[in-house]
Amino acid sequence: MKTIEINKEKCVQCGMCIKDCLTCSLEFDSEKYPKFAQGGEERCFACQHCMAICPTGALSFGGKNPKDAGKVKFPKPDDVLSLIKSRRSIRQYKDEEISQEVFDKLKNMFPYIPTGCNTNTLHFSIIESKSAMDKIREKVRLNLIKALSNPVLSKLAGKFAKYKTNFENGEDLIFRGAPHMIVVSSSIHAPCANVDPIIALSYIELYAQSLGLGTCWCGFAQACFKLMPEFGKMLDIPDGYKPVYVMLLGIPDVKYARTTIPESFPISEIREIEDVNQTFTEKARRLLLNFIR
Ligand SMILES: Cc1cc2nc3c(=O)[nH]c(=O)nc-3n(C[C@H](O)[C@H](O)[C@H](O)COP(=O)(O)O)c2cc1C
Repeated sequence: MKTIEINKEKCVQCGMCIKDCLTCSLEFDSEKYPKFAQGGEERCFACQHCMAICPTGALSFGGKNPKDAGKVKFPKPDDVLSLIKSRRSIRQYKDEEISQEVFDKLKNMFPYIPTGCNTNTLHFSIIESKSAMDKIREKVRLNLIKALSNPVLSKLAGKFAKYKTNFENGEDLIFRGAPHMIVVSSSIHAPCANVDPIIALSYIELYAQSLGLGTCWCGFAQACFKLMPEFGKMLDIPDGYKPVYVMLLGIPDVKYARTTIPESFPISEIREIEDVNQTFTEKARRLLLNFIR
């Protein structure tokens, strides 16, 4: 619901809500209180910055009480860096389920995950029981054995074809024995449909690991789900949504004694921009194309 309500006793008419609005949806009324400008409701992304920035808590967005919003508090940079460095892809899990309390903590974080244009058109399929996960695990394993027994498919699988014996021996090379899994899907109409789920899983991974959980991005599972669309139904993915990525989840059965020492990425430190032979229209075209992609 896109509404704003102003408590005139509290409003100091500073205009910060108007200045911070990314869609220019707000303006002062004749008494210098904020209101929606013409067409503002339609443009509004419902990001709630107007409510969050108000120094006196005078602005309520969508009927929400600013008093119910959390305090702004950042952890120490060293703590954040330590979490980033200590995070590992976990491939050894305890044979037990995550408690409902911890699942709830994780799920309560989801609404804070940013999405492009604040569309919030994400869907989370969470396999919460080990028995459901085992069912998926077994179906995928049998499907893979079948596929790798086919000479044409086996040839296409290249170096992965040699894993047929592992699957036949009951090894879980795809889901790594994880008791849970999260599949994030995105509306096919979302402007950032391919990016939003990846951001979501990045948030989930770091928060989950801070809660003592183990996670692992699972490109293999993603590939399997692409090959086996029947999983869409099992995962309760809404119509008009596509599954984008998969993360394994569970209680780690492994402890790392230290962090890794990763190689650095190439970084271009740009301080001056040289004119390249491109017209403004061409630059704008490329920018827009990238945005749409
Ligand atoms: C997009 C993505 C997909 C991945 N897919 C898999 C996968 O299918 N199976 C797996 O065991 N690990 C997978 N990983 C984990 C990487 O192998 C892992 O990040 C890398 O080996 C570095 O280890 P670390 O995450 O512990 O630092 C994936 C990681 C990313 C970012």
